[in-house]
Amino acid sequence: MINIVLFGKPGAGKGTQAEFLKDKYNLVHLSTGDIFRFNIKNDTELGRLAKTFMDKGDLVPDAVTIQMLQSEVDKNPQAAGFLFDGFPRTIAQAEALDAFLASKEEEITATVALEANDEILIQRLLERGKTSGRPDDQDEEKIRNRYDEYNQKTAPLMDYYKSQGKFHTVNGIGTILEVNERLNQVFDNL
Ligand code: AP5
Repeated sequence: MINIVLFGKPGAGKGTQAEFLKDKYNLVHLSTGDIFRFNIKNDTELGRLAKTFMDKGDLVPDAVTIQMLQSEVDKNPQAAGFLFDGFPRTIAQAEALDAFLASKEEEITATVALEANDEILIQRLLERGKTSGRPDDQDEEKIRNRYDEYNQKTAPLMDYYKSQGKFHTVNGIGTILEVNERLNQVFDNL
């Protein structure tokens, strides 16, 4: 099994690139943001809870997110591997994921980070916010809050995976296809 964490700041292109990668490498794509949005759309209890955090650009609490992610993994017992998009986002989530995979005699194969500077990414999100209806893309203050959350809680994961020798970076600037080519090169070598 190969289990990849696709890592990057909001707007780095994780969801866009995951659509290509999941098919090319036969991976189950699990986006915690998409799963939360699905629950919000269907007005579930989980969705109502997640919405109170997501609308402000805050992270959903670890316990809720970890339990949801684990249950999604368990729904796919035949998977050849997973592409985790937007998870883990805290050290507690990363540790929980490692322990959960270890209980299945599995592990994270690699973390691949899409790199781009904040100003380019904020422009991408403001642009998407015009048509996507995502409340967390609607104004710069919420977007900046997502970056604050990333810097405080998610950025430390880089050292977490570096210390395991599992951290790879890819330049996330350029066309979607250019970035995809760079990702394919890294994935082919895993
Ligand atoms: P989530 O849905 O994960 O949002 P995010 O990380 O903020 O990611 P985005 O979807 O905004 O960016 P992306 O990197 O996927 O880029 P994309 O491909 O979409 O999370 C949303 C919220 O859910 C969080 O804030 C939190 O509240 C909650 N949440 C989720 N996971 C959680 C967790 N683990 N713990 C706690 N809370 C959690 O691209 C962005 C835009 O750029 C698109 O319009 C795209 O078309 C465009 N684009 C992509 N690539 C390029 C390119 N190369 N050139 C030009 N434009 C491009």
